Amino acid sequence: MIHRARASIKLSALHHNLNIARQYAGPRKVLAVIKANAYGHGLLPVAEALNEADAFGVTDINEAETLTQADCKKPIVILQGIIEQSDITRIAAGGYQLVVHRMQDLQWLEEALDKNPPAAPLTIWLKMNSGMGRLGLKPAAVKSAYAGLQHKDWCSEVILMTHLANGNLTDSELNQQQIDSFSSVAKELPDAPASIAASSGLLAGFGKDSDWVRPGIMLYGSSPFPYSDEKLRREHFGLQAVMSLEARLIAIQDCQAGDNVGYCSQFICPQDMRIGIVSIGYADGYPSNAPNGTPVMINGKRSVTCGRVSMDMIAVDLGPVPEAGTGDIVTLWGEQLSVDEVAEHTGILSYNLSCSIAARVERVYG
Ligand SMILES: Cc1ncc(COP(=O)(O)O)c(C=O)c1O
Repeated sequence: MIHRARASIKLSALHHNLNIARQYAGPRKVLAVIKANAYGHGLLPVAEALNEADAFGVTDINEAETLTQADCKKPIVILQGIIEQSDITRIAAGGYQLVVHRMQDLQWLEEALDKNPPAAPLTIWLKMNSGMGRLGLKPAAVKSAYAGLQHKDWCSEVILMTHLANGNLTDSELNQQQIDSFSSVAKELPDAPASIAASSGLLAGFGKDSDWVRPGIMLYGSSPFPYSDEKLRREHFGLQAVMSLEARLIAIQDCQAGDNVGYCSQFICPQDMRIGIVSIGYADGYPSNAPNGTPVMINGKRSVTCGRVSMDMIAVDLGPVPEAGTGDIVTLWGEQLSVDEVAEHTGILSYNLSCSIAARVERVYG
């Protein structure tokens, strides 16, 4: 039973969504992105549920070591690569794969590994900035870095990668420009496996002739595309909700027309109303900017929020659920109410919503 607020994680849905990713990937290998505590869902249980992935992607060496300490034997790719030079000793000891995105990384790797090679040579994901403008080498630098790595005993394989800036905007011209720019380099290095698509690119069919895909958000049952496009919602792809965020009705106010609800009079009752007070707020990770009218489910029926989100509470309209009483369950998002719909209402990405669930919210797995 929920005490105050609970995030229930459906492991079978993770498994199901990985299968969907595989169907879209075809022969390409799947690197399941489980960085940032598996987008707030919990690193270790998610890794276990996704153990049929070909590799895992994490943010940094700390997340990689957490997986290893839990006996994870899967190849682990550190997506942010080297933060400081001392990371290299830990990366080499753990046998992790890493993204190299600066010339400085190569220099540091040479300094650390030329004289002291690791027990097993490393796989390097060489990242090209094809237009994302975040991490990655320019095309010419990718070619020279690749050539340099061919002579290093401590490097067993180089995988070329790039990341699409507008993969979720399927008609953006930048997608094809990035793919063309990346492909022209990849063609000159035909022995190197390549990776382009994250969830959006995978579902939209970009980079089909590459070797690896890197889905993240779709594994958690969220569509990477704007919710406003009905044809690109999660159900269109057969994705299942992974997280259900639930809290309880802890008080009921019989309000009259004109009564205030909550801070700053953000909601004044337009008529006599039953208002429910729910045990979740921004300190639990519920978005503080959720406007009046953000959808919720109460006892399985849809209703909406009323008034400003407090630290530990929100208020909801009990009009559509006259039978509701204290102790009843309120679902903030889950199977019947898509996190993508809440994201659309609040202007906060689904990625951000799940990552923001606070430590004090109990997580249960089943
Ligand atoms: C390099 C890289 N690949 C893949 C992903 C997964 O993206 P998504 O969650 O949109 O599938 C990310 C996420 O930010 C990323 O940075």
